[in-house]
Amino acid sequence: MFICNCAAVGHAAIVKAVEQDGVRTVKQLQIKLNVANQCKKCAIAAQVIIKLVLAAMAANKKAGIKAPVQLHIDVMLQAIAAAERAKRPNARAIQRTPAAKIAICDADTCTCGNTCR
Ligand code: FES
Repeated sequence: MFICNCAAVGHAAIVKAVEQDGVRTVKQLQIKLNVANQCKKCAIAAQVIIKLVLAAMAANKKAGIKAPVQLHIDVMLQAIAAAERAKRPNARAIQRTPAAKIAICDADTCTCGNTCR
């Protein structure tokens, strides 16, 4: 799913940047992936994804899991929508464009109906 339409950056790239490249802030994402450098409508979503990945990494570490972080798209979308409503209560919801393949969860167990790999 594209998070930054201006830079054509999807959530998977942001997850990877946080998990593997040590990105922790939107400012670092701006430098690393060119996210939130133009219209900046994606800044809240990028911040939410960073927080979700960091929380998942902490939970995985606590549980001794070494697998890569996998965010469920529904959870991610709900968290983004809630954050956007909190920061911009009168703004229209931002449409997110699903990418052809969404790397978010295990298609064998996922029942969300989204396109997963
Ligand atoms: S959508 Fe990210 S800068 Fe415009």
